Amino acid sequence: MSKLWGGRFKKPTNKFVEVFGRSIQFDYKLARYDCFGSLAHIQILKDAGLLLPAEYDALAKGLKVIIQEIENDQFIPDFSFEDIHSYIQSRLEKDLEKEGFGEAALKLHTCRSRNDQVVFDTKLYCLINIEETASILSVLRDHLLDLAKKTAEQQIFIPGYTHLQHAIPVALGEYFHAYYEMLTRDHKRLMNAIGNIELTLGSGALAGTFINSQKYNQNAVKFVAELKSKIITPPSNSLDAVSDRDFVIEILSALAILGMHLSRLSEDMILWASKEFDFIDIDDAFCTGSSLMPQKKNPDVFELVRGQTGRLYGNLMNVLVVMKGLPLAYNRDMQHDKEPLFDSFKVIQQSLRVLAELLTNKNISFKTKNIENQLKDESLYATDIADYLVKNQVPFKKAHEIVGKLIALKYSGKEEEQLRDLDDSVLKEYHPLLNSKIIKQIINPRTSVESKESVKRIKR
Ligand code: ARG
Repeated sequence: MSKLWGGRFKKPTNKFVEVFGRSIQFDYKLARYDCFGSLAHIQILKDAGLLLPAEYDALAKGLKVIIQEIENDQFIPDFSFEDIHSYIQSRLEKDLEKEGFGEAALKLHTCRSRNDQVVFDTKLYCLINIEETASILSVLRDHLLDLAKKTAEQQIFIPGYTHLQHAIPVALGEYFHAYYEMLTRDHKRLMNAIGNIELTLGSGALAGTFINSQKYNQNAVKFVAELKSKIITPPSNSLDAVSDRDFVIEILSALAILGMHLSRLSEDMILWASKEFDFIDIDDAFCTGSSLMPQKKNPDVFELVRGQTGRLYGNLMNVLVVMKGLPLAYNRDMQHDKEPLFDSFKVIQQSLRVLAELLTNKNISFKTKNIENQLKDESLYATDIADYLVKNQVPFKKAHEIVGKLIALKYSGKEEEQLRDLDDSVLKEYHPLLNSKIIKQIINPRTSVESKESVKRIKR
């Protein structure tokens, strides 16, 4: 096994250090992007006159063979190498040797450092994975919007909560629409992170290289479909380029926020599926049972999604702490950015996929009878009663006090009656504008929801 370094060493690496420093067991995931980076790099070397056209062709062919293997799932790196960059270099040396281009392979690492390579590869990995994540996220957003529209169409209303106490009725459609809005911001955050990624080559180890950057500025490389709208540029500052992990932190942050939203949505579904709420039924295919209690039907999917938020936050904290206080430029500590990054993408993609599958009209059914029972709680309409008085010129503060007293009467224990059953004479004592007919009109979820004119409604 040939290392990318070693000339100045008189002793082999300690075997524990060898294992301790190894990253190939996780950075093999960068193999494809590493090959793309090398394709760009050999173009630069050829333009700079450092590779002969035939050498360029041989290297390009060798790299494409490896890319093909990766795409066919046939790529098995040798995990005894230090990292994926070293393995691909060695693999090309072997392959090209057979073709009589051994020397060309030895030129590949000209004017290049793994410090530059690893940032490039990780950025490309991020670009591809953001797009993948955003596309699954869009499916979930569509399903939420669909649920919002369907439940709006069915005119399902639920109690709205603040502090998890009955507040004011809301349309169920608006409820799902709220999560749709959150996920829309998450989508934007991910797209913004793409915008902030600059794909650079040419930093060398930290100080740049002798290749004239003007030259490859013109050759800004566009030959790989995956690079999409991104072109490769020389770094504005090579010290910054090799030691910047802002893009990793920014993405981990966007994924952590997205995870937080999925967790809140899950929490609501878990509550709603409880006997105490009993608002929804989740399709059997998405629940599990208990090995001991025969009656159990548990909302595990939502719990697992909620639980994974811990990992997403942890991964963000992990990289923030790794980066804190690192001197310029590259430090080996940065090798520890990849596992949290890969993990967050994996976790979020799994969560999004399973939620997109679950959150559809056919898998979540609404127990409208139970919901309607909750809507009978007259305290939900207290604000609407106050609003009625306000509309009739009673100052809000007074209206608040009056309705507060009316509600206190209801909860005093002395008075078992419903507000709707109170006699006009009793109501009049609270305010002359109150009477039984008015109260009955107000205590209605649809009237309550439809009276809210200040909000844009989702289009059914
Ligand atoms: N495995 C390393 C990482 O992920 C690659 C860069 C190594 N650079 C170095 N100078 N040892 O950061």
